[in-house]
Amino acid sequence: MYELSDYLAMVDDPRRTSAYIAALRATVRPGDHVLELGTGFGFFAVHAALAGAAHVWAIEPNDAVALGPALAAQHGVGDRITFLQRRAEQITLPNLADVLLEDLRGVFPLMGARSGILADARARLLRTDARHIALRDHLVIAPCAAAHVTSARETAHDASNDASHHASHHAPLDLTTIRARAAQGWQRVRASALRPLAASARWATLELTAAIPTDVRGTVQVTVTQDGALQGLGGWFDAELAGGASFGSGPEAGASVYDCAWFPLERTVPVRVGDGIAIAMRATHDGSDYVWRWEVTVSSATGDVRDRQVATDLGARLLAPERLARRASTAVPPRDDAVHALAALLAQVDGARSLGEIAHTVRAAFPRRFPTEREALDFAARELARLVEGDPA
Ligand SMILES: C[S@@+](CC[C@H](N)C(=O)[O-])C[C@H]1O[C@@H](n2cnc3c(N)ncnc32)[C@H](O)[C@@H]1O
Repeated sequence: MYELSDYLAMVDDPRRTSAYIAALRATVRPGDHVLELGTGFGFFAVHAALAGAAHVWAIEPNDAVALGPALAAQHGVGDRITFLQRRAEQITLPNLADVLLEDLRGVFPLMGARSGILADARARLLRTDARHIALRDHLVIAPCAAAHVTSARETAHDASNDASHHASHHAPLDLTTIRARAAQGWQRVRASALRPLAASARWATLELTAAIPTDVRGTVQVTVTQDGALQGLGGWFDAELAGGASFGSGPEAGASVYDCAWFPLERTVPVRVGDGIAIAMRATHDGSDYVWRWEVTVSSATGDVRDRQVATDLGARLLAPERLARRASTAVPPRDDAVHALAALLAQVDGARSLGEIAHTVRAAFPRRFPTEREALDFAARELARLVEGDPA
């Protein structure tokens, strides 16, 4: 969940912020209705209004949105922005928007829910000819040595070798397999931690005005320009915005608020200038997030394959088989207290009863589950907020 300091770090990232403001100025026309998804405390929403929007719908589930109205009023545009503390999927608008403003990226543009949120906005909230502020994200990859991140597998190995050191504090458990699983995942690293050994290359482009595919894949071939130890792949993006504005999150651009992604290799491979490196990347949406697969083939300048490694972050993800099974169409939800309490709660919601009245009735029906009035009230408030506002962002 984002804190206020995270939002300030975002708007304090000069390349990102100036690119977005330039794109807004080039795009927003007088009379436009602008929809911003994920407005935070409303920084870009205020800029959209200052750029001439007749109205801005600023959507944000995080509590930071509560700061928006005062910021807007302070800059004289309070009457032209409506802040809604909701998830994008849960809003309706009185009229379709002319302009879509969003930065729903994570470290990478392939943030789990982004494709679904954008598809839903296109279907329900935007005019068919709506103009987008963020047009496309190019996904970039480079074979790297890492200055501060050793190969993650190596870190895991070192940590498990350290077990004897910890033995004096508590009985050692062998965590080798658990550490090895964790090390299979990609991780967020500072751009300065990456030492590219070859020029970076774009392996895929996300067209943000169209449907983002559930399976994003691409291959690149690069030539090593620096001798070094290949330990993994650095990943970042170049964003193209409207009006010719752009910014990148990679090491060439210096530090960015997004940081970079580090895709570790199991084995470190010494490489020399002139070696060829073929990289095949694949990100597959599993319904909630992306599963990554990366394949790296190192060849000598004469074309002989010296090393090939295939990795996936599947093992690092906490996928409990029982939880997955519960999502299958054939799964039969059990009749348990939690479900019945929720059903009783929902049956009480009639647009007239207060939360306290509802909680009281639910508690009377489930006295063992809710020993105190407070617990019933918390349950009712939490479950209803989850349905109306979504899980906290
Ligand atoms: C990268 S931040 C951008 C914040 C702000 N627009 C800025 O640029 O400073 C992404 C924001 O999207 C919000 N968000 C996440 N899921 C969302 C959803 N389903 N609907 C609307 N906003 C969402 C997050 O809470 C977060 O505030």
